[in-house]
Amino acid sequence: MAHYQRVGDVPPKRHTQHRDPDGSLYYEELMGEEGFSSDSSLLYHCNVPSAMVDARTWDLPDQSTETTAPLMPRHLSLHGLFPGDGWKGVDAVTGRRLVLGNADVRISYAVVGTTSPLYRNAVGDEVVFVESGTATVETVFGLLEAGPGDYIVIPRATTHRWVTSGEEPLRLYAIEANSHITPPKRYLSRFGQLLEHAPYCERDLRPPASMFELVETHGGDTDVEVYIKHRGVGPGGLAGSVHVVPNHPFDVVGWDGCLYPYAFNVDDFEPITGRVHQPPPVHQVFEGHNFVVCNFVPRKVDYHPLAVPVPYYHSNVDSDEVMFYVAGDYEARKGSGIGIGSITLHPGGHAHGPQPGAIEASLGAERFDELAVMVDTFRPLEIGEAGRASDDGEYAWSWTGGRRS
Ligand SMILES: [Fe+2]
Repeated sequence: MAHYQRVGDVPPKRHTQHRDPDGSLYYEELMGEEGFSSDSSLLYHCNVPSAMVDARTWDLPDQSTETTAPLMPRHLSLHGLFPGDGWKGVDAVTGRRLVLGNADVRISYAVVGTTSPLYRNAVGDEVVFVESGTATVETVFGLLEAGPGDYIVIPRATTHRWVTSGEEPLRLYAIEANSHITPPKRYLSRFGQLLEHAPYCERDLRPPASMFELVETHGGDTDVEVYIKHRGVGPGGLAGSVHVVPNHPFDVVGWDGCLYPYAFNVDDFEPITGRVHQPPPVHQVFEGHNFVVCNFVPRKVDYHPLAVPVPYYHSNVDSDEVMFYVAGDYEARKGSGIGIGSITLHPGGHAHGPQPGAIEASLGAERFDELAVMVDTFRPLEIGEAGRASDDGEYAWSWTGGRRS
């Protein structure tokens, strides 16, 4: 983000002495992307940020994937992955189950009832969509309050944890990139400001609130574990480590810069509509390397007198398409068993579109009450253990009323 923020106690000049009330120096850390050549922030720590006293490996949740052959559209029911009250012991980091993934992005799902360990993803940025429930995301940059419909965007290597009361299930749809995740570049000025035709602007982004409270709370903690996901030779090219650090990482008294986690609520996305059907890129909200994130929000639909409001059949010749159904009625999928918590995977190489009868049923509609989050990947997706466990095996035949030869 090129949107400058300044929070807490920061010296007037960068790279100069900054001292606490007792005269001790704070420790300046630069977090910067692309080798000091892109967005960065300067953080001021009470303690040395590189100090550690132990390290061990962390066996990541199953990151293995299998090819989706034979090529088929699929329906995955994520809500069945966490049956009963088993979610109460699940946290937002170690409890994620891998649904789909490739070398650019991984999609996981978790129903969470307990606070996560401290965590940083050193592989890429994460955007975690909150399907339901609430949490506080504590980060070295400060606090983000998370609730239904929030995207929590967390830059690579940001130490954080998900704090939840466990009173209700916290449902999280985690999109982990191997790259950075940003607003679509076509919506940004050459200096990085969101332009007038963008469906959201800087006012809609919620930066972290002050972390002073965290610094005071954790000032006396010692030998704290931090779980790190990083590049390695395990499944998906990933590995995990746990560092034991002698002081709590939430010791930042101030920071400033253009690199930080933030929240954006899907209700603040202003849909772009037209007289005839608008193509999916109008629904785009973020992008990473080789993938995009789009959202389909409640909206007025196409108002040409002869408009067909549901999508035309389309063959995404360059992408696999993953739709996650969050709320409302999804008009194009009526009669296919798709419901809240479903995923459809429409792979490249196979045209897809409305289920039988959906076109006729949509004629004359003025509004769609639907909420869905879509990830389109430009390289083929493979299916993870949670994807295999939630596949209904029937969706491919839904355009023929369930008939297969
Ligand atoms: Fe599609």
